[in-house]
Amino acid sequence: MTIHIGAKPGDIAETVLMPGDPYRAKWAAETFLDSPRLVNEVRGMLGFTGTWRGNDVTIHGSGMGMPSLSIYANELIRDYNAKTLIRIGSCGGMQDSVGIRDVIVAMTASSVSTPSRGIFRELNFAPCADWSLLRAAVAAAEARGVTTHVGGIYSADIFYDERPDLNEQMTRHGILGVEMEAAELYNVAARHGARALAVLTVSDHLLTGEALPSEDREKSFGDMVEIALESAFA
Ligand code: ADE
Repeated sequence: MTIHIGAKPGDIAETVLMPGDPYRAKWAAETFLDSPRLVNEVRGMLGFTGTWRGNDVTIHGSGMGMPSLSIYANELIRDYNAKTLIRIGSCGGMQDSVGIRDVIVAMTASSVSTPSRGIFRELNFAPCADWSLLRAAVAAAEARGVTTHVGGIYSADIFYDERPDLNEQMTRHGILGVEMEAAELYNVAARHGARALAVLTVSDHLLTGEALPSEDREKSFGDMVEIALESAFA
């Protein structure tokens, strides 16, 4: 057990999918895994372990924002020996070429700050995805016929951002979408020699104001779970 995860040693698989929402973790585990069992519920942050095509998989919530994700990613890697961590979540589109429901596979994640800033200080470390996972995720997404974009994303600290100029600069520099967790996942994974990737569905769009209807969210989320599982075991 760790401070934030009640799982016993051996309860967490080497491959962990991390949605932000713990109830998405429950839904994904019950929908896609064989024999899912609850392994964590400390503070309501649900984690389940089961098997997918015979492979052990944990699906564990990260919470919203990089400070929350950092706690779980650190404990999963350092205390439970997780080796492959894939964030599955939503993002806001930042380019005209990116549409609602499209999938973004995040090659890099820019940020204003991350919880790792205290380590990096004056260094602008470039958090980037694991290449083997990225390549496999793109192949899996394209095989499903999902419109897929590969490139940089922006991991923001603020959802209700009152400085639109930052988002404008991200758009100007070709950033595909904005979310709130991936940069720190990539930092923590790099620090500890784990593989990491973020696979995101565009749920809203900063340029058009469109938003994914709630009845479509489950289908898009399911696509991401399968893309993540296929890439983890490619
Ligand atoms: N996640 C989904 N949409 C988002 C947005 N517009 N900003 C930050 N995180 C998001």
